[in-house]
Amino acid sequence: MADNTYVGAIDQGTTGTRFMVFDHSGKVIANAYEKHEQIYPEPGWVEHDAMEIWENTKSVINTALDDALIDAEQLEAIGVTNQRETTVMWDKDTGSPIGNAIVWQDRRTTDRIETLEADGKKDDVQQKTGLEPDAYFSATKAEWLLDNTDPIKLQRSRPEDVRDRAEEGEILFGTIDTWVIYNLTGNHITDVTNASRTMLFNIHDMEWDDELLEEFNVPRATLPEVRPSSDEDTYGSTDADGFLGAEVPVAGALGDQQAALFGQTCFDAGDAKNTYGTGSFMLMNTGDEAVMSEHGLLTTVGFQRSGQPVQYALEGSIFITGAAIEWLEDMTLISDAMESEKLARSVDSTDGVYFVPAFAGLGAPHWDQRARGTIVGMTRGTRREHIVRATLESIAFQTRDVAEAMEEDSGIDLQSLRVDGGAVKNNFLCQLQSNIINTDIARPVVDETTALGSAYAAGLAVGYWDTIDELRDNWQIDREFSPKDTSDVDARYDRWQEAVKRSLDWARG
Ligand code: G3P
Repeated sequence: MADNTYVGAIDQGTTGTRFMVFDHSGKVIANAYEKHEQIYPEPGWVEHDAMEIWENTKSVINTALDDALIDAEQLEAIGVTNQRETTVMWDKDTGSPIGNAIVWQDRRTTDRIETLEADGKKDDVQQKTGLEPDAYFSATKAEWLLDNTDPIKLQRSRPEDVRDRAEEGEILFGTIDTWVIYNLTGNHITDVTNASRTMLFNIHDMEWDDELLEEFNVPRATLPEVRPSSDEDTYGSTDADGFLGAEVPVAGALGDQQAALFGQTCFDAGDAKNTYGTGSFMLMNTGDEAVMSEHGLLTTVGFQRSGQPVQYALEGSIFITGAAIEWLEDMTLISDAMESEKLARSVDSTDGVYFVPAFAGLGAPHWDQRARGTIVGMTRGTRREHIVRATLESIAFQTRDVAEAMEEDSGIDLQSLRVDGGAVKNNFLCQLQSNIINTDIARPVVDETTALGSAYAAGLAVGYWDTIDELRDNWQIDREFSPKDTSDVDARYDRWQEAVKRSLDWARG
């Protein structure tokens, strides 16, 4: 390895796209970010323009390299990490999407999942995929796209032509990793972690499942090849004549939550992390055993390195946490995310206010697609400071919901939780989190562990790093938070659970 070589990571998230460059010590050398449009065509629908995402991907790569005066030739490999489940389908001939990507938060296929449940098929799907059937996953989104794409867009006249072309493999399916890798390399590939979020993939056999494909009407010919998350064979290379002007191997890919698990070096069974992004996702490595949850968590693929056994994880998926802070901004209750810390600290309590931000239903451990956002306990004296504080508390309480489920499923008492993601810059939130789950919280120096994890996966594949021990050595604590002021925490948590019931009741009203 030459001294001045690096590994790059594309982090294609729900709100924007980032490119980061890391050196051998895991230090950030370059970083560029661009947001993309959130498209809400109807209540409960969320879409992205996949072409905009690809254009932004190229742009952030070029910006980061230019800013840091790095030549693309100095990149030994590129890793990809991405918002998971979001589904895009495109025309193989033209490379153009057949419609907007349907985002993981989108609820348009809620009825379809309810039909699945009414038909008594839920347990079977759960057994094969490790997932709680929900509109969150890709299967019903792909089915919807194939059933509802305007044939005229594909220069065809009959609706059935869309499906005919898909059966012939002329329309391709992908999660966002696949879309980015396809555009980078020309190859139609996904990794095991992203495949495990489609609800079409059997996580025990590690294969696309014929019965699931039939159930959700997704033709096998549309599906990508499934590869390890860190792949010595590589997924392909960028084109020397393309936008990058260099041939760089693309050798690692993981869904963003699994990438954070890898970036936090949670390589052993029992290691756990929580990432605070648009939503929050707590994952615990369970080694080569797929532990099936009895408390509302998901069983998912954690990562796989070339030639090594698959490592599984338990996951608590919380749909709305950082997005609740964004909502405070949209409501002009705060001017930016950092102001939430200042306002929350300015009052002693929420004054009895509880906010359940179930904007997209509730994920783990409740799994209620029809739950909706609820604020309870307001009085004439309620001020914006109380609502802001209640929003931060909702992040910590939702995390306790999944942490308790995780301890019960795994039989492991959480001793310390590694945290990352945008919101952990907020010291108030980190301390609150430690108090509410009564566990130490460890914040690492590099909090962009999602990008770091995919860089690690790609770098290991090409020999930039030789062993995972080198990666463990790179991990450093920025600050640790230990529980304090816990006397009334359990009583407040009881009230939180009451508030959650109200939000669930709304679903049934
Ligand atoms: O499962 C959805 C998750 O991958 C989204 O992550 O960081 O884009 O909110 P993020």
